[in-house]
Amino acid sequence: MTNSDLDKITVNGDRLWRSLMDLAEIGAYDDERTGLRGVNRLALTDADATGRRQVIAWMEDAGLSVRVDRMGNVYGRREGTDPSARPVLTGSHIDSVATAGAFDGCLGVLGGIEVVRTLDERGIRTRRPIEVGVFTEEEGVRFGTDMLGSAVAAGRLSLAYAHGLTDRDGRTLGDELARTGFDGHADVRLTPPYAYVECHIEQGPVLAENDVEIGVVTGVQGISWQEITIHGRAAHAGTTPTRLRADAGLAAAQIIVHLRELVDSGEYGDLRATVGHLIVHPDLTNIVPARAEMTVDLRNPDDAQMARAEEALATFLERLENSGPGLSLTVRRMARTAYVPFDEGVQKVIAQAADDHGLEHISLLSGAGHDAQEIAALCPTAMIFVRGEYDGISHNPREYSTPEACAHGVDVLATALLRLANQD
Ligand code: GLV
Ligand code: MN
Ligand code: MN
Repeated sequence: MTNSDLDKITVNGDRLWRSLMDLAEIGAYDDERTGLRGVNRLALTDADATGRRQVIAWMEDAGLSVRVDRMGNVYGRREGTDPSARPVLTGSHIDSVATAGAFDGCLGVLGGIEVVRTLDERGIRTRRPIEVGVFTEEEGVRFGTDMLGSAVAAGRLSLAYAHGLTDRDGRTLGDELARTGFDGHADVRLTPPYAYVECHIEQGPVLAENDVEIGVVTGVQGISWQEITIHGRAAHAGTTPTRLRADAGLAAAQIIVHLRELVDSGEYGDLRATVGHLIVHPDLTNIVPARAEMTVDLRNPDDAQMARAEEALATFLERLENSGPGLSLTVRRMARTAYVPFDEGVQKVIAQAADDHGLEHISLLSGAGHDAQEIAALCPTAMIFVRGEYDGISHNPREYSTPEACAHGVDVLATALLRLANQD
């Protein structure tokens, strides 16, 4: 046996898969468009609370001592032989978008618990404690700011800001924490761990295109979310001459087209732009929209290019507002994160673990946001990506990674955690 075989561990892939499928039953729904079963577990809904309670039960079964902080972030701790040593943290989220699959976030949380079960079964003690974290409202689709729980834990956003955020029905996050019983008492500011490793599905096509199972994630691109409200003037669709209209729906369409032009111009680097939410009021066939509400999601791996794209959008919005009487716009910042590079040392530990498991890997940048990008402010951090099927489709019931791919990703997680947790 070589040295690296001695601290290489393989998890129970069947048990991991069962827990993924069991958790996916909580918040499950029949998706009419795909004919598949999807998951709808928006943060701090009843379904999310039920999922959290299930995860806590699994943590306790695995012997972890559980604490809940004032953001509802849940941590399960496995003691090390040196309890004064800083822990190695792993984890992710179990809240989902409204049209999710079974894997986004859940693989990282359930993978972390599976690592603990495996260490226990093998009687392996580590020098450092290992903690598994479940972060609140990673998706940001209910309260409007993504990576919210981990951002507060890392100190980038304040607890007061987070508690005051409202969903579309006007319910505050603080009230929903209390209602679901997840308004915990543990200090929300996380004491810097020794290292953080998160295992997550890739949510894109790159690993499959390269015919490899494992991605070593080099960092996360910048994310900019804004909400734009366009105020126009309601009018009768049949009688109001075009020259007299202030059409909020038309303005929304112009914004969408302009965003695509920014992307297609090639002048803003590798910019991606999405309007994923758009509603008009009063939302009736024969009335010119009086108001439109939309969100703009921009992604860019280059912070300077991102800033230029935001400026270009702001200039366009100003022009639009001045383009005719009766139109006005309000813009609200929802979320903004810069490009976050991950730690090279942790990336090496992950790459070595993949090599020792005989798994081919490539390095890649994450297109999606992750809790890891927040925890990276506290300690050396990197991520493991697991290949997805069907072009890596995600935020969709078709999201799928095979049982083997999930198990291999968590094998790499287990070995990386074990090695980090035994470092001096
Ligand atoms: C998180 O899922 C994101 O929107 O990147
Ligand atoms: Mn995720
Ligand atoms: Mn997601």
